[in-house]
Amino acid sequence: MKDYSKYFKKPSLQEEAKRCKDRVVINKEGLLLDEVTSDMGKNKKYFVRTYGCQGNQADGETIAGILEFIGYSKTDDVENADVILLNTCAVRENAEDKVFGEIGALKRLKTTNPDLIIGICGCMSQQPHIVDKILESYPQVDLIFGTHNINRLPLLLKEAYFNKERVVEVFSNNNEILENLPVSRESKFKAWVNIMYGCDKFCTYCIVPYTRGKERSRLIEDILQEVESLKNAGYKEITLLGQNVNAYGKDLNLGYDFATLLTKVSDTGIERIRFVTSHPWNFTSEMIDIIATRENIMPYIHLPIQSGDDEVLRRMGRRYSYKEYKELYDMIRSKVKNSSISTDIIVGFPGETEEQFENTLKAVRECKYDSAFTFIYSPRVGTPAAKMEDNVTDEEKKNRFNRLVEEVSKSAKESNDRFVGKTVKVLVEGTSKKNENILSGYSEENKLVNFKGDISKVGTVVDVKITNSKTWTLEGEAVGE
Ligand code: SAH
Ligand code: SF4
Ligand code: F3S
Repeated sequence: MKDYSKYFKKPSLQEEAKRCKDRVVINKEGLLLDEVTSDMGKNKKYFVRTYGCQGNQADGETIAGILEFIGYSKTDDVENADVILLNTCAVRENAEDKVFGEIGALKRLKTTNPDLIIGICGCMSQQPHIVDKILESYPQVDLIFGTHNINRLPLLLKEAYFNKERVVEVFSNNNEILENLPVSRESKFKAWVNIMYGCDKFCTYCIVPYTRGKERSRLIEDILQEVESLKNAGYKEITLLGQNVNAYGKDLNLGYDFATLLTKVSDTGIERIRFVTSHPWNFTSEMIDIIATRENIMPYIHLPIQSGDDEVLRRMGRRYSYKEYKELYDMIRSKVKNSSISTDIIVGFPGETEEQFENTLKAVRECKYDSAFTFIYSPRVGTPAAKMEDNVTDEEKKNRFNRLVEEVSKSAKESNDRFVGKTVKVLVEGTSKKNENILSGYSEENKLVNFKGDISKVGTVVDVKITNSKTWTLEGEAVGE
């Protein structure tokens, strides 16, 4: 066996599945630095590519913030980079395949730049079989670190630079919340705000509880401070992030929950508040009332259903029946005016019958979603569902997937049609790549709107009259210009 650096710690799924009952430690130390690391990136460039969910996007911004803090500057061109980090996602096989393709493509850069450091981080690094595969088959990777030790990135980079050994440091368990890390945000007016990390739901198909560890809520005062400083810096919109935002605060036992947090964040007066993801479990009517009555909380809710069939839901470990889901759904629709609701759906769960699949189609028809993210089930090593018997052919799964997409498109188009002739408020993000006079941004209901307007409006909220609807976008014209 090759002699690896002293930093050699591989993950273990068994350890990752454990949940310790200890109180979470809030680590306010920030970055771990020494004399060498504090300006290690001077005159050097970094490239970070992030895959996966909003939580991972937020991590990518922290990683960028750390690298900039120690002197690196950003490049969008891998050819110029001294450090390349792939911040990966493990939720489905196709997400992983993309990363392996990218690692393969990067190999040639090592011949032109032998000092180049290639690192893999994010959720794929938390899986033992992936770490083994990289170590065995991808010698171009110098550094692997996980989701729990981002604060140690400067030390790990130093080790990779100076010792020329492959550095692997992935912690399987974590009882900490890392505060006070530098962040380099991609947008000047939209920001991610983590409110909790990890997941304890252990849906049978899902790898996230292993890669992200136990549910850990940030202290409400730390979140509010971050929101205040974003507001003061001119940010217009924040998105509160967690795998199950409705479970916020439960682990803390300090007498506050997601409803309390929403109220206090709303009280800061920041212009737009969004949140993802809402697991139907733990969603209280009090939370719905706050969303319904607060002007600055956007009327958009992402409420994953996964399946419309009770037996499949039970085997997925989702903890609700379709009836319970629909009652919650109807309560949101009736209380939150102009609500927009999206969902996630998995087709081809092991053993899913045609009849069970049709219950999902029926649910989509009944719920009339504004949009839906649809996925073909992908077995994840170490999860209970990966061991379930599966007699559904790939061809059948593909066929169901296509039927589902058709149903979802129908309902998305219908939902968009209701906006034609109405005026919506759009936070302008930028101009269309093809035409400088076409601006785009999201409405309060999270509809992507392309419209004619003035480029000076980027970063502000404008009124847009909708003139046309497509399946996934709306078109219109700025009002009063
Ligand atoms: N915490 C969120 C979901 C995070 S993962 C929630 O529970 O609502 C995002 C989506 O990926 C899930 O909602 C699910 O639809 C999908 N997904 C997760 N694991 C999957 C798998 N093994 N195969 C296919 N899709 C999966
Ligand atoms: Fe995965 Fe379920 Fe947790 Fe969502 S709630 S992250 S689907 S285990
Ligand atoms: Fe992917 Fe990890 Fe997010 S698996 S979806 S990046 S939590």
